[in-house]
Parts: sequence; structure tokens; C-alpha cells
Amino acid sequence: MTSATDDLDASQWDPTDLAFRHDPIPWYRALREQSPVYGHPDLGIVLSRYEDIDRVLRDTRFGLATPSPWREMFAAGAPASMLLLGENSLLFIDPPQHTRVRGLVAQAFNPRRIEQLRPRIEAAINGILDRLEAQATFDVLTEIAWPIPIMGVTDLLDVPATDQALLHAWTDAITAVDELPIDLAVLPAAGVAADEFLAYAGDLVDERRKNPGDDLISALIAAEEDGESLTHEELLAMIVLILLAGHDTTASLISTGLWLLLSHPEAADEVRNNPESVPNAIEEILRYLGPLQVASGGGRWPNEPVTIGDTLIEPGTPVRLLLGSANRDPEQYDDPDRFDIHRTAIRHLAFGRGLHVCLGAALGRLEAQIVIPAVLKRFPDLALVDAEPTWRPSLVVRQLATLPVTTGRG
Ligand code: HEM
Repeated sequence: MTSATDDLDASQWDPTDLAFRHDPIPWYRALREQSPVYGHPDLGIVLSRYEDIDRVLRDTRFGLATPSPWREMFAAGAPASMLLLGENSLLFIDPPQHTRVRGLVAQAFNPRRIEQLRPRIEAAINGILDRLEAQATFDVLTEIAWPIPIMGVTDLLDVPATDQALLHAWTDAITAVDELPIDLAVLPAAGVAADEFLAYAGDLVDERRKNPGDDLISALIAAEEDGESLTHEELLAMIVLILLAGHDTTASLISTGLWLLLSHPEAADEVRNNPESVPNAIEEILRYLGPLQVASGGGRWPNEPVTIGDTLIEPGTPVRLLLGSANRDPEQYDDPDRFDIHRTAIRHLAFGRGLHVCLGAALGRLEAQIVIPAVLKRFPDLALVDAEPTWRPSLVVRQLATLPVTTGRG
């Protein structure tokens, strides 16, 4: 049997190639079939099969804070503010610190707090749609996919809506460091943004210590377990991480989701007309084209020699996990390249798995489950302007650069 990847040679894979970044799926297939444990000179070991990635995410021999030449290189080149974030951020620490911090954060970031946001997200999307009502065309990213998630996190932290542009700019500068292969040239700008962001978070913490409210920052300050609480640095890093992790990702989910549904009109009609179809449709969007194609930028490192397939991975070797490839693995899914909102037992890896599984998954899902059907219902004739999508040229983040649509109005 021939497949679309017969002409791709996995040994020629170039993760910086723009053609790969535009459409990674054929290369994922080639990697899974020909070289599932792939040694790359800049990236380390790259895993592409669901089973291997799932296992590493749950294997306690792999950590994020384990020493490695890559981390040493980062430490040598990174400004102090970036190191503070790296050493205290939930996403970059290992047990026992991770266990303590995650336990404390989970007390504050609980389902009740997320559910409280529901009416606010509904009001926000309805307000945006009222404003767009008479327009003939608009860009989904600018008008909807960016504003809603940033509003979600600023509401959660109770920071002024007028700071959203600032927070957005800091996020862009800091997350540039997560791109692969890492470009050390982005570190100085990331450092400036991290300095400013940490000062901003510090002021917020001082203010909430004096005047606690019903917001997530006050709850993080108050969280305590067995006499332990978050250190000042952990608190600041957590505030920054929530803002960083909480909006770019969900903006991708909302915009990619609308693009996929508008490209599959029957599925769009079902989401428009049948509320019960919505949760599974969102899970299929997450599987099919999830916002994060690679687990956190730094990857995982084994703290002892580990063998995967025939490859012995020594401590200090970075292991990169292609979540987007795992979610297209035919060993896990029938006909994985078919977008099917009726697919059952999806169990995708778009939110990761194991110790670091996404803390904000419930919020990302809630926003997408409210916003995507609301947009489709308001505009029954919504249609794509471009036949071909334009993706941001990133290995790590799957996000459309722009998503112009016509409304059939105006
Ligand atoms: C659709 C939206 C989202 C996606 C696809 C997503 C994806 C992920 C993934 C894949 C990880 C694990 C990374 C790894 O193991 O290396 C993660 C972790 C995390 N996410 Fe999300 N995320 C989303 C939304 C959010 C939101 C809305 C927030 C907060 C408001 C958030 C906060 C976090 C935090 C704090 C972690 C670190 C957890 C830990 O290390 O224990 N995420 N996310």
C-alpha cells in the first residue's frame, strides 16, 4: 500500500523548514513510520508515537528541572528574571517542589472559580458579536480569539482590562524563548519583558496582601497546606505563568476550531444546532490540530539512562515530545487524519498528561465551548475568505496568523 509519505525520508527532516511548519502532518507520519525515536543535532531525541510520548509524560524518571547541557546553555545566556521564572514556574520544576506548588495552586484554581467565569465569558462574546452584527467581514483572531481568553485570565486575576495590551506584548516576548530550536538572540528582549512583568506581578501581590479580594491572586496568597505556602518567587512565577499559558493557547483553540468547522460545513451545522455535540467537537479539534504541537519548549530529560525502542537515552539528553503527532497516530486512532466530531474515546494529548497536565484545561474548554457555537449561531452564513490558511511559522504553537471571514451581512 502506498501512502502520502512514501516520498518523504525522515532522515531529511528539517524542523526549521517553512514547508514543514506550514503542514507538519506528512512529516509527523514519516517520523512515526521510519524513525519514531529520532536523534536531531539541535533538538535531542524527538518522539512522535502516541505510546512513547504518553509513557514519557507519566514516567517519573523524566523531569523538567534535571541538569543538562541545554539548561546550562540557557542559564549562561539568560537574564536573571528569566532564571527566576525558570526556577519557580510550575511548568519547569520537578517533585517534591512541583507536588507542593501544584497542591497549593489547585486549592485556589478550583472548578468553582472557573465556573464563576461562565456568565462573564457569555456576556463578553455576546457583546463582541453585537458589535460585529452588521459587519460584512471581520478577522476572527483580532475580534474574538485574542480578546476572549485574555479577558478570561485578567478576570481570574482581577487585573484591569486596560492592561491587556501590555500583558499581550510581554507574553509574546517571553514565549519567543519556547520556540524550537531555541534562538538565544531572543533572550535579551525576553529578559526586559520578564523584568517588567515580574515588577507588575510584585505590585499586584503587595496590593492583594493589603486588600485581599475574591480573585485568584488573593487565593494563591492565602493557600496553605501542612503549614506550607507559596514562596514570594513562586507566587510571582505562577501569576506570570497563568497569563502566559492561558491566552495564546486558547486563542489558537478558538480560531483553529472555527476554521476547521467552517471547512467542514456539516460539522459546523451540527455544532450550531445541537448543543450536545459541542463538547466532543471541541475534543476532536484539540486532537486534530491542538494549540501546542510540542510539550513545553524545554522538553523532558531522563535522570537515569532510559531505553526507548532500541535507543539508549542518557541523562542530560533533551527529549522532545511531538504531541501533535501523537494525536494523529494510527495505532491510537482509526483514520487519524479524518476530522470527525463524532469520534469516540478521543483521549488526546493536547493538554499533556501526567504530573504537568494542563492546569487550565477546564478554562480553555469552557471558553471554546461557549464561544465557538455562539459565533456560528449568530452568523448562520459565516464563511472563510481564504481557500488556504496562513499559519504562524512555529514548530511549537499551531496558530493561524489571521482568519478573515464573511458574515453574509452588511
Ligand atoms: C486550549 C487551551 C490550552 C492548551 C491546549 C494547553 C496546553 C497545555 C499543555 C500541553 C501543558 C503541559 C505541558 C507539558 O507537560 O510540557 C499545559 C500546562 C499548563 N497549562 Fe495549559 N493549555 C491551555 C490553556 C490553559 C489555561 C487557560 C491556563 C490557565 C489559565 C493554563 C495553564 C497551564 C499551567 C499552569 C500549566 C502547567 C502545569 C504544571 O506544570 O503542573 N493552560 N497546558
